[in-house]
This record gives sequence, structure tokens and C-alpha cells, in this order.
Amino acid sequence: MSDKSDRRDFLVRLGLGAGVVGVGLQGVASLRSLVPNVSYDPPTTVKLGPPHDFPDGLKFLPDERLFVFREGKTFHAISAVCTHLGCTVRAEALPQPETAEVDGRPVRLTHRYLCPCHGSRYRGDGQNLSGPAPRPLAWYRLTVAPDDGQLVVDLADEVDRDFRLTVA
Ligand code: FES
Repeated sequence: MSDKSDRRDFLVRLGLGAGVVGVGLQGVASLRSLVPNVSYDPPTTVKLGPPHDFPDGLKFLPDERLFVFREGKTFHAISAVCTHLGCTVRAEALPQPETAEVDGRPVRLTHRYLCPCHGSRYRGDGQNLSGPAPRPLAWYRLTVAPDDGQLVVDLADEVDRDFRLTVA
């Protein structure tokens, strides 16, 4: 074989090798592009503000669609999302506070909830009473942020209706 022919073979092999490597890298890059680098899910924990900013009684937070209740140093949060098809329920103050038995213990209720979409009605603790709503309004865990002391709700963490957060 001549030197010329050896060189041509070498160059052909080099070209083929480079082509195979290029196609392989392209394939890896294509597969990697299917995996997102970031999560586009909204965060489930939301800072709501300092506890002392909440008045005693109920405060509605439209962005979180949440009712936050304060009784002195004790807080709890109830979802305003109707369990039928997700409309935002309205809170109505009761003419007189009433006491209901919730999970075996008496609880003082100051409001009830009405859904404007299809008329579901809920008791003050979120228990569904009438209409198409299939289950009670959700209660969410509240905590205090360790860095700045704000109230934090975790909208992915449902709690029982006897949950209360007491702040110092
Ligand atoms: Fe509330 Fe239908 S969405 S009753």
C-alpha cells in the first residue's frame, strides 16, 4: 500500500469517528433537553406576614385563597377553595358565634362559608353542609419562619381541624 492510500484511509476513519462522536453528543444533548433544569410548579409554602399584622378573628388572603383565623396567640388557616369545582367561597359572619363539636371537642365558630357558583354551604370549621361540595374545606399547616418570624402556610400540607399554631 502506498503512503497516499494509508493517509486517505486514516483521514476517512478519522472523519467517520468524528461523525459518530458528533451524532452521539447530539443525541445526549437532545435527551438532556427533555429534563427541565428548574421546577415550574408554584412553591407550596408562602409567607403571609408577621403574626401581629393579623387582626383577631378572620382575615381573607385573596392571593392564597385562604382564611387565616387568629384568637390571641393562636392561629389556624382554612382554604377558601370550594371542594366542588374550585370556586372561591365567601365568608359570612354569623349573627352570633356558635359552638359546634369538631372531632369530639367544642369549637367556637364565628363564620360560615357560601360558594357563589353552585350554592354549596360550609360550617365555620369548613365542614360541608349542603350543595354539591363533596368534602370539607381543607385546613393547612401554619408555621413561623425561623429567619424572620413571619407566618408561613404550606398549601400542600393538610392538617386535621384541631390544628392550631400558637406563637410566642
Ligand atoms: Fe362551589 Fe360548585 S364550585 S359549589
